[in-house]
Amino acid sequence: MGVAGAFFQAYGEQPAGIWHAPGRVNLIGEHTDYNDGFVLPFAVPWGVTAAVRPREDLTVRIASLQMPGEEQALDDLDRAEGWARYPAGVIRVMRGAGLPVRGADIMIDGDVPTGAGLSSSAALEVSVGLALSDLHGLGLEPMELARLCQKAENEFVGMPCGIMDQAASALGREGHALFLDCRSLASRAVPFDLSAYGLQILVIDTGVHHELADGQYARRRQDCENAAKHLGVASLREVTDLAGALSRLSGDERARTQHVVTENHRVEAVIGLLRAGAVQEIGALLNASHLSLRDQYQVSCPELDVAVESAVRGGARGARMTGGGFGGSAIALVADDRVDRVRTTVERAYAERGWAPPTFLPATPSPGARRVH
Ligand code: GLA
Repeated sequence: MGVAGAFFQAYGEQPAGIWHAPGRVNLIGEHTDYNDGFVLPFAVPWGVTAAVRPREDLTVRIASLQMPGEEQALDDLDRAEGWARYPAGVIRVMRGAGLPVRGADIMIDGDVPTGAGLSSSAALEVSVGLALSDLHGLGLEPMELARLCQKAENEFVGMPCGIMDQAASALGREGHALFLDCRSLASRAVPFDLSAYGLQILVIDTGVHHELADGQYARRRQDCENAAKHLGVASLREVTDLAGALSRLSGDERARTQHVVTENHRVEAVIGLLRAGAVQEIGALLNASHLSLRDQYQVSCPELDVAVESAVRGGARGARMTGGGFGGSAIALVADDRVDRVRTTVERAYAERGWAPPTFLPATPSPGARRVH
């Protein structure tokens, strides 16, 4: 059943409209967003579709085609549980910002593979946020919407994420990646039409999610803030003399700083190569990003490392983990005629270790959040 039919069945009326917001893949610029740095994600073909109808009262009713039996009717948004905390958080933050957002009936239909690290939560937040902005005539700019959604995740869900995922979902453009300066929030769509070069980005979903992820994310953020404080800068983005900075730091703070500063440079290098039309050459930078995340930032895991190493061995131009880490997905830049070989090489490497096979998904840069009906 489609989302409109499910809406009618649940609430006995037609939705006022249907909105879609995508998940994202991050091409490069990992763990840089909360350091005021650079990121280069793109929106993926998978996302969340929300059918919504505003209500006169303040009640929010919410259900999902993927979560039968978990529908919630909330007079008090603080009561939201599980996945419903994301949209409930967005509504609460909108109201908190003084926006005239009342109740709503909401039906969700999502096709972002869950746990794959492709930002299904940002897609959920942005789809509902955009629906309410449109329905109440708020005219929120995409970046304002992204910030409200990030705030909802920070304050309501308790995940101290940066702005990247929500911005990619809200501002993504077909055939483009999104270059975002997370300090100024200035953004630019960068042409990223892989098919013209006979290339594709293959997502390798490891199927694992290591539970330590959330606590470790907050700890990495803390390491970075401590390092910035030691260096007397507002954020690691401000470090220009890397060698000098490293000589003043030790241990984790030193390693995290090395990653963040070099990763920002890698983003700029990728932008330069894309502008020059040297798309294949970005592969080496993807590889370097992965090694830095594995060794300096320490957010990889065996399943991601094996996916990356075996993809490259199978002929990928480059590969890296994408997103927060500790599981989820890797991405590989692969020539169209090498895809089968890359897949079999990765599958074999997993089978040799007795791991369940990963899932492969070709990810084309897709449009950002929009009203679809
Ligand atoms: C998660 C967060 C993002 C970003 C990445 C790492 O996806 O939600 O804000 O920090 O991790 O780059």
